[in-house]
Amino acid sequence: MPQSPSILFVCLGNICRSPLAEGAFRAAAQAAGLDVAADSAGTGDWHVGRPPDTRAQAVARAHGVDISGLRARQVTAEDFHRFTHVFALDPANLADLAAIRPADATADLGLLMDVVPGRKGSAVDDPYYGDAAGFEATWADVTAAAARLVDRFGG
Ligand code: 4NP
Repeated sequence: MPQSPSILFVCLGNICRSPLAEGAFRAAAQAAGLDVAADSAGTGDWHVGRPPDTRAQAVARAHGVDISGLRARQVTAEDFHRFTHVFALDPANLADLAAIRPADATADLGLLMDVVPGRKGSAVDDPYYGDAAGFEATWADVTAAAARLVDRFGG
C-alpha cells in the first residue's frame, strides 16, 4: 500500500520560512478538508528548540494562522524515510539537503517554489535580516505554494 503523503518543509534556521510554510500549508489543507501530515526543520542547528521568530509569528497571526507552538529542529537523514516529500525553501537549502540525502531515500526532494507556475528555480528569500515587509513577502510565497500543494495532494 502506498505511503500517504507527508510533507517536510526545510529552510536554514527553521524559525522563519519553513515554519511559515508549514503553517500556511496546514491552514490551506485544513480549509480544503485534506488530511496530510506536515512538519518543518532547518539544515542548521543554531535555533533548535526555539519557537518561530516573533516576526514570523506576527505575520502568520495577521493572516489568521497560529504558529507559536512550533519548535525548531534540525533535519536528519531519517526524515528522507519518514516523509514522502521534502521541500527546500531555497536552492542553498536544496543543495544542503541533497548532500545529506541517503542513497536509499524514499522521499522526493524538491524546491518549494517549483510547484508555483512561473516561479521555477526561485528562492523563498530569507527574511531574517530584513524587516516586516520581507516577512509579508515570505508569507505570499509560502501561501502560493501551499495552494498548489493542496491542489496536488487533494486531487
Ligand atoms: P530561516 O531564517 O532559515 O528562514 O529560519 C534564518 C534564521 C536564522 C538564521 C538565518 C536564517 N541565522 O543565521 O541564525
